[in-house]
Amino acid sequence: MIRHEPDMGVTLGRLKMKNPIATASGCSGYGEELAQFYDLALLGAIVTKSITLRPREGHPPPRLAEVRAGMLNAIGLANVGLEAFLRDKLPALARFEVPVIVNVAGSTREEYLEVCAALDAAPGVAGIELNVSCPNVKEGGMEFGIDPATLAGLVQDVRRKVSRATLIVKLSPNVTDIAVIARAAVDAGAEALSLINTLRGLAIDPWKGRPILTNVTGGLSGPAIKPVALYMVRRVWEQVAGPRGIPILGLGGIQFVEDVIEFLRAGATAVSVGTANFVDPETGPKLVAGLREALERLGCGSPGDLTGRLEG
Ligand SMILES: Cc1cc2nc3c(=O)[nH]c(=O)nc-3n(C[C@H](O)[C@H](O)[C@H](O)COP(=O)(O)O)c2cc1C
Repeated sequence: MIRHEPDMGVTLGRLKMKNPIATASGCSGYGEELAQFYDLALLGAIVTKSITLRPREGHPPPRLAEVRAGMLNAIGLANVGLEAFLRDKLPALARFEVPVIVNVAGSTREEYLEVCAALDAAPGVAGIELNVSCPNVKEGGMEFGIDPATLAGLVQDVRRKVSRATLIVKLSPNVTDIAVIARAAVDAGAEALSLINTLRGLAIDPWKGRPILTNVTGGLSGPAIKPVALYMVRRVWEQVAGPRGIPILGLGGIQFVEDVIEFLRAGATAVSVGTANFVDPETGPKLVAGLREALERLGCGSPGDLTGRLEG
């Protein structure tokens, strides 16, 4: 029997990826941290650490805590800021033949707009991923991503500034019904959705009797959140993304090829890998190779054959 190699390519809006495996924001800096382990061109895309208008130091340490089946982080959006990113980090990434998706954070609408407009104009930015899990300072400190009307207003305004790069909105799981938020983002012009960001959590040192993180609370990531992420990808796929033809970049606890297949079946077009890189920095290319093999075994011509395919 002749077996044909699967075509690993997928598209996320207007963004073409040679395979569906990307990094997750915040888990490999601006790509350079992984470039010492393998050729980044092996990946479908690189998603950068969140970029803000001005440089940020983030929260003081400890800002990471290992917990059972995952970790808590409260990095506080430490990053070099827009100017240094465009000057130093983006040109370095352009050397690799891999699409770059820049994750953007902000605490006011104006900040998001300025950063997104500058990135859209910069050569080498294939996608913009809006991190809407940040407190909205102007509108009372609530996260942009938890109120559908606030989110829709932001996405609509950003959409007007972004014409070249694919606009991806990254959803927070810390909401009552993620489908409501997903619908607001898509109605306002999101071309793709990524989900999920971290779940809010707390780690306590039982003997010292205080929180482990200086910030007290942090975001939970890793295998512990995978079932939650899968449920949310499925819900968004069924209620919004599937019927509207909007691709999902799925993430949350992905470590093994089986995890990737589960996310595709739940409704993802592509996936991001975050915390697993702390265990094995070569997880990305291993998943690409493993997925190619798995697709052959399943008789699938492409990853898209699995997207949303869940029997029963
Ligand atoms: C150390 C760390 C830093 C992160 N920084 C960001 C960030 O800057 N922006 C963002 O949108 N998500 C950030 N995330 C969330 C991840 O991109 C991802 O949504 C989440 O960790 C779930 O995926 P995982 O279980 O594969 O890590 C961070 C996660 C971790 C663990």
